[in-house]
Amino acid sequence: MTYTRHALQAGDKVVTFDNPNAYARSIRATALVFEDPVSQALQERMSRVSQSDATVLIIGETGTGKELVARQLHRLSARRDKPFIAVNCAALPENLVESELFGHERGAFTGAIGQRKGWFEAASGGTLFLDEVGDLPLATQVKILRALQEREIHRVGSRTPIPVDVRFVAATNVNLEEAVRAGRFREDLYYRLNVAKLDLPPLRARPGDILPLADYFLRLYQDRLGLAPAVLSSAARAALLAYPWPGNIRELENMVHHALLVMRDNIIRPRDLNFTGYRLFVEPQPAAPVAEGDGLVSALKAVFARGGASLYAEIEKTVIQTAFAAAGDNQVHAAKLLGVSRNVLRHRMKIYGLLS
Ligand SMILES: Nc1ncnc2c1ncn2[C@@H]1O[C@H](COP(=O)(O)OP(=O)(O)OP(=O)(O)O)[C@@H](O)[C@H]1O
Ligand SMILES: [Mg+2]
Repeated sequence: MTYTRHALQAGDKVVTFDNPNAYARSIRATALVFEDPVSQALQERMSRVSQSDATVLIIGETGTGKELVARQLHRLSARRDKPFIAVNCAALPENLVESELFGHERGAFTGAIGQRKGWFEAASGGTLFLDEVGDLPLATQVKILRALQEREIHRVGSRTPIPVDVRFVAATNVNLEEAVRAGRFREDLYYRLNVAKLDLPPLRARPGDILPLADYFLRLYQDRLGLAPAVLSSAARAALLAYPWPGNIRELENMVHHALLVMRDNIIRPRDLNFTGYRLFVEPQPAAPVAEGDGLVSALKAVFARGGASLYAEIEKTVIQTAFAAAGDNQVHAAKLLGVSRNVLRHRMKIYGLLS
């Protein structure tokens, strides 16, 4: 059996492999899109940082590619043939943290039936990725700091030190400086992690990546779903460029995947794009909840009963048009009425062709 890697971008060659591992490696090796000048600078910094063993702190909003970058750092490093272990710090159960990270000896505590290696040992020779490090409880921060400083650990229930030979990469979408000021994150650990920093800009700050990423995900999911070649209409491309992407690359990926499932005639049009995340982008406004008595809920129920393929878009378009009528066609006032920024309103209007 042969495996084919399709051209991911213009100019990319189609390559075939007769070995699934080589195929998987090649997919992982090419699956990074960095087209915008901002991303290219980042990529260059990444290659430089990957060559040393310095601890790296990756910061960026949700969905900006922090985990992907951590894996890439490992892949580019001299440790590439050793393990890459990702630990989600936010998901570590507090009572088991120590044995998860450092392992335990048989009988160290009730339930410790056998000896177990922890994540630090599992990553030996390779890279240990501490994901969502900003969510670590203070008690655990101390333990990790100690391991980082002393470069050795003890399994729970053992006095024998075990040397730690790992490269640490940490990531967070929490503002760590702020967390340090608020006393939620240890300052000494912050400095220990922040030896080299990689700051992943939000997608809206690297607009040159939007369409190449959209095309990349289009090919990826089209192949996974076994679909015939699909395209993005020019209106859909304009809509993607106009959107502020609060959920960043992950949101774009999900949006393209979803669009492939609902499109007709293998063309993705604006109505196939599910731009609902923008509400996250808007400052939260204290608002009275919508009550049944307002009439809005019953009006919506009547519209739902009627149904329609692009109901959400229709409703939103009507909301915008109604706000404009109420605001005397003034954009600033209409945005205020809706409790969104003028920029967001303009993005939405562009998508629905309401901007002349
Ligand atoms: N430059 C890129 N090229 C191709 N795909 C990307 C790129 N950056 C991110 N992705 C994809 O976007 C998705 C989100 O990336 P990732 O999980 O690394 O984000 P994250 O910053 O760790 O998010 P979170 O903070 O929510 O954990 C993944 O499917 C990843 O493969
Ligand atoms: Mg992540």
